[in-house]
Amino acid sequence: MTTTSKPSFTSGRAIQDESTQRPRVNVTGAIPERVRASLAADFELADSVEGVDGILALLPTRVDDELIGRAGRQLRIVANYGVGVDNIDLEAARSRGIVVANTPDVLTKATAEQAIALTLALLRRVAEGDRFLRRGAEWRFSVEFMLGESLDGKTVAIVGPGRIGRETARLAEAHGAAVLFVGRGDSLHDALRVADVVSLHVPATAATRHLIDADALAAMKSTAVLVNTARGTIVDEAALVEALRSGRIAGAALDVFEFEPHVSAGLLELENVVLTPHLGSATRETREAMGLLAASALRSLLIDGVVPPNVVT
Ligand code: GLV
Repeated sequence: MTTTSKPSFTSGRAIQDESTQRPRVNVTGAIPERVRASLAADFELADSVEGVDGILALLPTRVDDELIGRAGRQLRIVANYGVGVDNIDLEAARSRGIVVANTPDVLTKATAEQAIALTLALLRRVAEGDRFLRRGAEWRFSVEFMLGESLDGKTVAIVGPGRIGRETARLAEAHGAAVLFVGRGDSLHDALRVADVVSLHVPATAATRHLIDADALAAMKSTAVLVNTARGTIVDEAALVEALRSGRIAGAALDVFEFEPHVSAGLLELENVVLTPHLGSATRETREAMGLLAASALRSLLIDGVVPPNVVT
């Protein structure tokens, strides 16, 4: 045996050992093929959480104490397929030393775009006009027919000036709107009293639950509209339905719902409401980028032994 053949034999065996002991990852729902292929290159993909080292959690999966316990003590990381982590019991993860990662940045533009798309659809009555035509209603062009509002010249309150809030502000300004940022230290009600559009961009936490309640809605101008692309629990949906029905506010555009995937019946009946089914980050490129970022967090911790940058603290 030559001196060069031995090391190559040794390293060959090491690679083989590694490949039979690849970290095990459970993905809790359907994901783009490109993301699955990226995961499959490095991990053994398990059908259930029992015994896995990592979980790639989709937003509808409640990663609670029970699920974490069921996975087992070897579980080291939960990578969320989303930036919001309200579906994860962070305390349960922290107490067991499990790293939680999310997908910031890659979805900022798509989500801000959806906020503006909803705002314009509501102000310019796009969805209402579409419903009108589909009903086969009689119509002809008329000067005062179905008039809307322009975003140009309006004041937009950005509640939560984080990445998505700031990008939404930039797009709103490009449409000629003035922006009012409402951060933690600012008075929400002061902003609600002057805003024409109130756009929500805060995470769902105990502190933001029903941030927009009956009192907040009462503080808004009767001509103002509410836009929510953040999380449903930030808004008291029953109070919102009541405010919309009574004309307390002029309209709402919602991508997220308090009892998601259920949508309050009251919202479905109203013309001054635009609804989308949680599509904030739903472009092919963005959903792939989110998946690849989550996969890189799993790889970083489980293969390279390095805590990924996109951890939730
Ligand atoms: C989507 O809602 C996300 O949090 O990524």
